[in-house]
Amino acid sequence: MSAVVSDAVPQRFPIPDGVFAETVVSVRHYTDRLFSFRITRPASLRFRSGEFVMIGLPNAERPVFRAYSIASPSWDEEVEFFSIKVENGPLTEHLQKIRPGDTVLMRKKPTGTLVLDALLPGRRLWLFSTGTGVAPFASVVRDPETYEKFEEVILVQTCREVAELTYASELVAGIAADPLIGEIAADKLRFHGTTTREPSPRMGRVTDLMRSGQLFADLGVPAITPETDRGMICGSMAMLKETKSILEDFGLAEGSNAAPGQFVVERAFVG
Ligand code: A2P
Repeated sequence: MSAVVSDAVPQRFPIPDGVFAETVVSVRHYTDRLFSFRITRPASLRFRSGEFVMIGLPNAERPVFRAYSIASPSWDEEVEFFSIKVENGPLTEHLQKIRPGDTVLMRKKPTGTLVLDALLPGRRLWLFSTGTGVAPFASVVRDPETYEKFEEVILVQTCREVAELTYASELVAGIAADPLIGEIAADKLRFHGTTTREPSPRMGRVTDLMRSGQLFADLGVPAITPETDRGMICGSMAMLKETKSILEDFGLAEGSNAAPGQFVVERAFVG
């Protein structure tokens, strides 16, 4: 596939074997630390909502690949990602400069554990995230199957600043108007964004809010129980460990693709 390449990410090297070379369709910058972008979708790409894939840029003979959660749902005609910008990050230093028309490389096999198949049936689905950890859940909340399996879906994201909540809050607000899932999702999906370093209506780390019970009081739901609640967790290593241990204290057991359980965990990737 040939693509128009901007000055920002010069393509001086051939596309490696075994990867898709896709074209950037759009880019949106939310803050000086966060941006999202959409690329063309290869016809043969198959994935389950919530999975991740390795992506890179054709700017070196041996391109740097990093794991990125696919933020778009499996029915979408394009593929969306939500990324942090890491200063001197081997990939994001360049990736943050992409423009429509540039080429992004994508390895062919998506994988991951934040998938509905890895959860036992339940009533309420919790999606716990910090920062760009919300990306796989942007996929899950746009998948009709999520609403076939759960009566209630609560997306929780903790960020440092208010502007970092924009990607997910706009996404959830827009779902009501979506012709495919708007009707089934509207009454079931809620977004609960909190900040830690800038004043906002809801402050505090998701972990602290769960421990204190404030999260459940704010949402008007009972505390988590293994009978009704299921969870997916995506954030930094420290956040994963803490949230996992809190869910275990509530009596939930971790699951996987091979052995579905009451919650699943995936690291949010940066690079
Ligand atoms: P804090 O501001 O208290 O560090 P980052 O941008 O560094 O990835 O962090 C995203 C959000 O995750 C921040 O609001 C941060 O809070 C929060 N956070 C960091 N560590 C944890 C943790 N162990 N559990 C829950 N939230 C965390």
